Amino acid sequence: MRKLEKPQRIGIFDSGVGGITVLREVYRHLPNESVVYFGDTARLPYGNRSRAEITEFMREIITWFETQEVKMVITACNTSDALALETIRQEFSLPILGLILPGARAAVKQGKRIGVIATPATAQSNAYRRAIQEVDPTCQVWQVGCPEFVPLIEQNRANDPYTREVAEQYLRPLLQQQIDTLVYGCTHYPHLDRVLRSLLPSHIKLVDPALHVATAAAQELELLGRTSTKPPTATRFCVSGSPSQFAQVAKQWLGCTPRVEKIYLRGANSLLPLDSRE
Ligand code: DGL
Repeated sequence: MRKLEKPQRIGIFDSGVGGITVLREVYRHLPNESVVYFGDTARLPYGNRSRAEITEFMREIITWFETQEVKMVITACNTSDALALETIRQEFSLPILGLILPGARAAVKQGKRIGVIATPATAQSNAYRRAIQEVDPTCQVWQVGCPEFVPLIEQNRANDPYTREVAEQYLRPLLQQQIDTLVYGCTHYPHLDRVLRSLLPSHIKLVDPALHVATAAAQELELLGRTSTKPPTATRFCVSGSPSQFAQVAKQWLGCTPRVEKIYLRGANSLLPLDSRE
């Protein structure tokens, strides 16, 4: 009897609901692919974690993906890309895609004075400036860390007047530099698209790396000859924290309430003491 092939999924992970902005682009550009989504909500936010912590988290997540019939991983978290992707890629044979390179390539096509809003860890790492100037050394880059955005989004406060005030403060130094392009350097931030657009002059071009990593994934699967031709199975949503909290926040961006599984990762579910940070 012929052995039935197990369907192979794309693994997408983030600290929380930010990766849904990438998932939406994967649905648009890779409509036949099945996905397993992991949100490491027990350890959220990632944006002020150390390199050592993020590397360990990513190692654990990719190891778990390997047990889940995953054929490719999309790092739907800029912080993980900035701090750990290079190291982790050397440890696994799975193709692992990041957002920063596709985002940088897209940004240089839009303008010369490029602002990046990102988590404090991504901004401090300088990963976007490096990637952008490697593609086009004539571009100028300003990066602003926005520590309050992710907690506000995860608390379902994207539309609060307070969120708008905070956004205004974060954008101010970039507007003073007269940027012509703004990159969403954190996958949570497209969830603030409405408020951010309302604060930006209309000539500033917005770059969402989510779209560009999805098209890069499509090309890579094609190249590897691993594109799915069958209709996809339902996305599996998994989290390390509270499934109901994730479902509650995610539903507005998914258009339906997802069924969410709780996954036990050793590090995520045996609380790391905060003082173990670098
Ligand atoms: N959405 C992630 C990123 O793109 C992580 C944000 C966080 O947890 O601070 O960086």
